Amino acid sequence: MTSVGVCPVAHGQVNLFDRAFIESPDGLLAELRETAPVHFDEITGCWLVSKHADIRTVLSKPQLFRPENALTAVTHIDPSALRILARVGFELPATLANNGGTSHAELRSLVRQFFAPAMISAVLPLIRELASDAAELVKQDLDAGDEADLVALVTRDLPARVLIALLHLEDIDLPTLKRWSSDSLELFWGNPDAERQRELAVQAAAFYSWLRGRITSADPLGSSLFSVLAAHRTAEGCALRVQESIGICYFLLVAGQETTTQFLSTVLRKLIGQPELWRRLSKAGAFPDELIASECVEEVLRLETPVVTWRRITTDEVLLGDQVLPAGAQVLLMLAGSGSDPDVFQDPERFLPGRDAARQHLAFGFGRHYCLGATLARMEAQEVLLILARELPDIQLKQTQPPMLGLLSFRAPLRLLVTNTPR
Ligand code: HEM
Repeated sequence: MTSVGVCPVAHGQVNLFDRAFIESPDGLLAELRETAPVHFDEITGCWLVSKHADIRTVLSKPQLFRPENALTAVTHIDPSALRILARVGFELPATLANNGGTSHAELRSLVRQFFAPAMISAVLPLIRELASDAAELVKQDLDAGDEADLVALVTRDLPARVLIALLHLEDIDLPTLKRWSSDSLELFWGNPDAERQRELAVQAAAFYSWLRGRITSADPLGSSLFSVLAAHRTAEGCALRVQESIGICYFLLVAGQETTTQFLSTVLRKLIGQPELWRRLSKAGAFPDELIASECVEEVLRLETPVVTWRRITTDEVLLGDQVLPAGAQVLLMLAGSGSDPDVFQDPERFLPGRDAARQHLAFGFGRHYCLGATLARMEAQEVLLILARELPDIQLKQTQPPMLGLLSFRAPLRLLVTNTPR
């Protein structure tokens, strides 16, 4: 699994880590959907499922297609890296995304209270303040030099700050949290060699130990996520296992902000790259004008979701499309390409804010495990888009092809250089 080579499909194989595929995945995703909608990929050992209808079928049959492999490392982890994790008792038991069992509903509703509409409305002023401050920093950089990086100044930290407020967490060092979470993503969804795995494992282990400390010392009467987990008693009157609480926090603190950072970066790239729409957004005032922002956000979710794939595992032999999958088959749902499926979306390649069936994409999954952060992610993207376009109506992209994060399940620009359009 190297990232060299130009053609991602070689000798009937698809290299999902190939740079050419990461930079421009649409052609291959369409080819897979049309010619091999259920395709066994020898490199990852997964069955790639590409049609919208098949992905929906998989997600709506949780007894046949279980989610227990959702957080399993895709690359073989070297024993030396495993030892680093074992030293801190690293374990991610079935809790949310990786839980097809009976405890899922209870744990999901425990966490859902933090994402209730009133809680999300309460962080709206913070989102607006952070986006306005970030726009100011961009202006300063543009005034001082000739370029500014929207990832470093706008999208990298904003979602984490919002999440920390939403979960009522305190004393969190943001750069450390960002390092722990991006290293965790790379360890579990990347293609690192043994040496890099050891570096990443050190960070993941530090994150895990820190979470253990925070959870075991949490005040059960407090209002933070840590406190709520410490205070919780199951229907049988039992406390959660510490590993379960750590697993919930580990997943939430990573998925709840890294995905949104990635999404905001893609939204900005996509919209700044369409000057007419950017100008329209820059003039959008209050409702109903601002509908345009939410419609643009929806189109980016459909066409370029940051969570490009998600996994399931079969419990039994099952027919999917024209292929029979054995029991225990690793299934990789190609969420990214499914938003361009012509069976569901007319003129799928066109960016059409407000199109019919706009919300039928599968960017947030479907069914029992549907993303708990969907409303929050949409709101953050909409606000950032409106505020940045209003404050920076004249910016343009400096690079057409920015460096990209390219993990098995996550894809987004890592840098987004803009300049002011010469008048
Ligand atoms: C644009 C940003 C995001 C995308 C594209 C995204 C996508 C996804 C996807 C594809 C799933 C799996 C769904 C399934 O298995 O059917 C998922 C699950 C989940 N997401 Fe998100 N997510 C995003 C942001 C967030 C945020 C901001 C949070 C929390 C603050 C969050 C929390 C969760 C949780 C808790 C689950 C597991 C739900 C369960 O298993 O019951 N996500 N997300």
